[in-house]
Amino acid sequence: MKQTVTLNIEGKSLELPVLEAIAGASVIDVRSLSSAGVFTYDPGFLSTASCDSKITFIDGDAGILMHRGYPIEQLADQSEHLEVCYLLLHGELPAEDQLATFKNDINERMPIDSQFAKIFDGFTRSAHPMSMLCAAVAGLAAQFHEGLDIYNEAHRKESALQLIAKMPTLAAMTYRKITEQPFIDPNPELGYAENFLNMCFGEPGRASQVSSTMASALDKIFILHADHEQNASTSTVRLAGSTEANPYAAIAAGIAALWGPSHGGANEAVLNMLEEIGDINEVARYVDKAKDKDDPFKLMGFGHRVYKNFDPRALVMQDSCHAVLAEKNAQDEPLLEIAKQLEKIAREEPYFIERKLYPNIDFYSGITLKAMGIPTSMYTVLFALGRTPGWISHWCEMLSEPFKIGRPRQLYLGSAQRNYTDIGSR
Ligand code: SDX
Repeated sequence: MKQTVTLNIEGKSLELPVLEAIAGASVIDVRSLSSAGVFTYDPGFLSTASCDSKITFIDGDAGILMHRGYPIEQLADQSEHLEVCYLLLHGELPAEDQLATFKNDINERMPIDSQFAKIFDGFTRSAHPMSMLCAAVAGLAAQFHEGLDIYNEAHRKESALQLIAKMPTLAAMTYRKITEQPFIDPNPELGYAENFLNMCFGEPGRASQVSSTMASALDKIFILHADHEQNASTSTVRLAGSTEANPYAAIAAGIAALWGPSHGGANEAVLNMLEEIGDINEVARYVDKAKDKDDPFKLMGFGHRVYKNFDPRALVMQDSCHAVLAEKNAQDEPLLEIAKQLEKIAREEPYFIERKLYPNIDFYSGITLKAMGIPTSMYTVLFALGRTPGWISHWCEMLSEPFKIGRPRQLYLGSAQRNYTDIGSR
């Protein structure tokens, strides 16, 4: 029996259908409200579903994250990033031959041609890697535009392969640019994460020296970042895509949105915060600053719009962090000690408990990446690398069904109509 809700407003009674979810919250379908001259008001979209999707599900109260029904803990423990990419795109785990073909499809598309690589000549070594990555991905729209039919499924699949393949190569090029080193070509013999690390830290013409622990830890970090429902950057990709824009341009818009410290930029901000705190004895003072309404300081890596429990990714991230620190023999990393003290205090402080502020994925990823020798300015680039399959899967999902251009309404609080006056009488 279909549920409805009745809305009585300005003497009118409106019956609104309730749409049932497979998991999580049902939604009130308010699409008919605009014809009644009424809008809903929800800045920040705390209570608003922008779409329906089959890709990812989060239960924030229970700390559950699933991709196509598979719990993130199982994927992080038993899968690999390219298999998760396939799962997000196709909805099912691949058979062995399907995965082998997918890996080959990605490997074939990883190289960046030397003419396109000149896009990096326009940047100084001090350019932020996220600005370079955003520009480079937008630049791919120049390479893949003529003849690209977004309504053709094969063209959508090709765009997905190109983006998943080229993101690690472009990301590594940003690292080589800020370290003033020559670019290294992708090596089709290497795994996805190992290839990226070799393009960053390798030597041209030399075999990969990347350790399996580092490659495995990074591959897991990519899995943990792969997708996360309608977060700000994914919603940006969907909104840009809803105008029928080039998919590479839509992904570049997602990269721009991810860069903010409230979103993907938090991993870089966590490291900067830990370094600013500098000493375990300073932690209590910074927790007090975070609680002070008059102080803009927030504990980066804490809190989440959806998780009101531990971010399940943070728990897996914690394990990766310890494995990397053990291999680097850096278990006594001072920043880790500060992070542990922060987490301990935050778990006991009424301010954080009342607001259900728990460590999120960014809290431990920064420490892990630092131990791997990756500079802070590259952290959000790695987040973008991991999130690319999520972004492009949502774009493909939206384009595979009828969709409308996203065009929110507003609550107008400006001036009532008035007449223009000439400058002499103002
Ligand atoms: C990501 O959406 C996603 O899924 C994102 C992401 C993904 O995978 O795509 O999970 C990745 O972006 C994780 C979040 C990374 N950002 C940070 O770690 C930055 C620090 N966190 C905060 O900026 C904040 O918690 C947000 C932005 C994450 C969430 O903000 P909300 O949901 O808008 O919550 P809010 O700002 O309304 O906070 C509610 C209360 C407020 O206090 P009161 O006004 O109720 O007294 O909690 C306080 C806030 O001041 N608060 C914090 C805090 N986060 C919230 N106080 C101190 N430190 C914090 N970190």
